[in-house]
Amino acid sequence: MAGVPREQWTSKSGFILAAIGSAVGLGNMWRFSYLAAENGGAAFVILYLAATLVIGLPVLLAELVLGRGSQRSPIPALVHYGGRRWKPLGLIFITSGFLILSYYTVIAGWALRYGLAAIIWGFDVDAAAHFGEVASGWDAFAYHLMFMAITVFIVVGGVSRGIERTSLVLMPMLFALVIGLAVYAATLDGAAAGYAYYLSPDFAKLLSPSVLKDATGQAFFSLSLGMGAMLTFASYLGRDIHLPRAALIIAGADFAVAFIAGLVVFPLIFALDLSADVSASTVGALFITLPKAFAEMGQIGRGVGVLFFAALIVGALTSAISLLEVVVSSAIDNLGWPRRRAGILLGAVIAAIGAPSAWSTNILGAVDQVANNIFLLGGGLTLSIFVGWVMVGPIEEASEGATGVSWFRSWRNLLRYVVPAILLFVLIYDAIPSTFKTIADLF
Ligand code: PHE
Repeated sequence: MAGVPREQWTSKSGFILAAIGSAVGLGNMWRFSYLAAENGGAAFVILYLAATLVIGLPVLLAELVLGRGSQRSPIPALVHYGGRRWKPLGLIFITSGFLILSYYTVIAGWALRYGLAAIIWGFDVDAAAHFGEVASGWDAFAYHLMFMAITVFIVVGGVSRGIERTSLVLMPMLFALVIGLAVYAATLDGAAAGYAYYLSPDFAKLLSPSVLKDATGQAFFSLSLGMGAMLTFASYLGRDIHLPRAALIIAGADFAVAFIAGLVVFPLIFALDLSADVSASTVGALFITLPKAFAEMGQIGRGVGVLFFAALIVGALTSAISLLEVVVSSAIDNLGWPRRRAGILLGAVIAAIGAPSAWSTNILGAVDQVANNIFLLGGGLTLSIFVGWVMVGPIEEASEGATGVSWFRSWRNLLRYVVPAILLFVLIYDAIPSTFKTIADLF
């Protein structure tokens, strides 16, 4: 608090890469591909792009404005602009951080295990049985802990020396890996069938509220919105950065990586005739179908698989960092804890909260739905109302450092009317009822 100056990014591009690192992660590869497979391929991609532009982009700019303007973590940022009665919203953000990171590192742990095992032994042909063995229980828990330890180590290093430096190295690597894999996938025999499935829309699916919910939820999850992650990263920014432009770059890069990941996943699945496996998709789809494809492709498959899991691990790591940073930065700002203590202690607590998800993929799936459908969408709804109606002078704050008139003139109206209307519809019509159903099915 007073006395210690706030940490800062060393460069604007450092911030942009870290924010893209937060956005690009398991959401772009694991979540995006199973949702696209489930919801009729291109129909979902179109809706998801629309949700990114109409809902994701305005909410992203809202978070950036709140963070940069207040120079604080979520709770004091909301109190700064809205008074003390907004504190509970900040607490909900922190809770989301705990919840999402707790199972995010479990999935990242699966990826870590698959990547390491592929280097040492290769992929198992009986992929479904293998997934069943390693995705829950002590194995999953051990890799979950390992992944959490790496995340803690980087966050404890600080904003510029830990997070920024890691992103500067890892993000270019991730882009190269994903693009390289897409180029390789294009050379496969079945690639055309994969593209046909991925890129030709089934328009009948566009009108279902559940596809709309999946697309909106995916835009939020993938852009790290609705829980203060982007807000927290922006709180380490100076006043000279063009926020609307930064928001466009972050959203554009995030969509591009998801789209390219689809160009990797679908050709692979169709080249090996595994599409029937995908239609029965669950949280495990990517971890069953792709390793099966890699196993059937022999030594080349093994190499490609290692690179694929490397990309997944890198993406997951830079996202996990941002999730932990939300709670760490809150402990520093609100409780006066030193960064080191906050990182280690909170990392340990969150790892413990993740134990049930490491024990059962059904629990993991349910926690993912609660976090995404209720917390992120609900957080986004409140956030758009906050910046749309409560905060004084958001346009002025967004214009600071932004030269020239841009699209964001209509930004506040989107936040006031369009975003809340769509989010309310999605929440009431599908997100809340379907989440309760998932929870009921657990018992
Ligand atoms: N955006 C990350 C991904 O796509 C996940 C995430 C959600 C990160 C919320 C931070 C906050 O994998």
